[in-house]
Amino acid sequence: MIFYCKDSGERQETTKMLLGTQRINEAGRLEIGGCDTVDLAKRFGTPLYVVDEQCMRDACRAYRAAFERHWPKSIISFSGKAFLNMAACRIVDQEGLALDVCSGGELHTALTANVSPARLIVHGNNKSTQEMTEALKAGCWLIVTDSLPELALLNDLAGQLGKRPDILVRLSPGVEVDTHTHIRLGQVDTKFGLNPDNGQGMEAVKEALALPNLKLRGIHCHIGSQIFELRPFRETIEIMVKFLARVKAETGAQLDLLDLGGGLGSQYLSQEAPPSVEEYAAAIADALKASLAKYDLGEITLLQEPGRSLTAESGTTLYTIGIIKEIPEVRTYVSVDGGLSDNPRPALYQARYNAIVANKASSPPAQQVTISGKHCETDTLIEDIDLPSLAPGDILAVQSTGAYNYSMASNYNRFTRPAVVLVHNGEAEVIVRRETYEDLVDKDVIPPRLK
Ligand code: LLP
Repeated sequence: MIFYCKDSGERQETTKMLLGTQRINEAGRLEIGGCDTVDLAKRFGTPLYVVDEQCMRDACRAYRAAFERHWPKSIISFSGKAFLNMAACRIVDQEGLALDVCSGGELHTALTANVSPARLIVHGNNKSTQEMTEALKAGCWLIVTDSLPELALLNDLAGQLGKRPDILVRLSPGVEVDTHTHIRLGQVDTKFGLNPDNGQGMEAVKEALALPNLKLRGIHCHIGSQIFELRPFRETIEIMVKFLARVKAETGAQLDLLDLGGGLGSQYLSQEAPPSVEEYAAAIADALKASLAKYDLGEITLLQEPGRSLTAESGTTLYTIGIIKEIPEVRTYVSVDGGLSDNPRPALYQARYNAIVANKASSPPAQQVTISGKHCETDTLIEDIDLPSLAPGDILAVQSTGAYNYSMASNYNRFTRPAVVLVHNGEAEVIVRRETYEDLVDKDVIPPRLK
């Protein structure tokens, strides 16, 4: 995009990242799903999570289409932890995806939203007895077991309930991934899964095959999140398929389900270019074909559990700009009316975001500023971003907030969590209502002796 700087007449070139249905309308404002975001801010208040329904549906369709093309026997399961609420469940269900849940609360949400249990995958490294019972009673499609003690417990519970669930055993393939340490999950030193090489993975498989109330269908792994390279996925496939071959050799069992988790990265900044789903699916299929041939194994069904890559780019958070504080020759702090509580990712993972001033979307950049939240600590949302001249009341649209923002939001400093609005074809609908002060005190209890 080319901008002409009004004052100097100089030509400035800058790239404005527009994702999904985002566009700059005739009024020079950011529009998403045919809705003017400045109007959305007025109508629903800020901070506001805006979800581009078309963008999310397109991502679901792109995944299904790419995998159907490259590996027809594949199932795409949305990893709910990225963005779970009842409307999101309905969208992914309508798009023909399965859904993976990792807590009793996520399971309850999915079931309440009428997702068929036959399409649910249940995760967790420390599932409670109650969570396992709920999953068994509901008749979930797959339970992914994470440890030897869990296998025994699940077998007992299944026996008591007269069930025999299909299960996967989770492995930790020990592949090095170039992403933030907190979201790097496949390495050897991890609380997740069992090591395929130190005997524990094989012990779990043999145990699972021997236990009368469990039906072992395959193996699972998840190597990390926000991954831009295809190499670690290829390496993982080789390790997992080699393990399947060992299982066959040592037990005779031919497990035919391979769940590779999620992890494909999303675009947060204009200069970032994650692999397309098409490239990703092609790489996975090639590696799978090669490894299955190498170990002389038959057909397998492939499971994918994308979270971020289905929802991140469909989300935008709108904030109202408040105090602007310039420290001469140091920095200009621009504070917005949210922060750490609606987006903990910059603080937790040093995550970087891009933003557009929604009401000045076609204005050229005029200054470098740092965007801060309004929490009682240094909650920088975006450090050093070039934006047009700003004034209190401007609406800031932070992009790519559709994954792990709403789902990781908190009430820190007793902030009320923002509403989530779904936009599509010029319509905007609330899918999660804004919390109120009443919501905050509703769950508090004052014991009589403190009254
Ligand atoms: N499957 C399993 C078993 C997982 O644990 C995860 C994510 C996924 C699938 C989906 O991964 P994705 O496609 O979204 O990368 N809160 C962190 C991300 C934590 C991811 C945890 N597991 C963040 O904000 O970056």
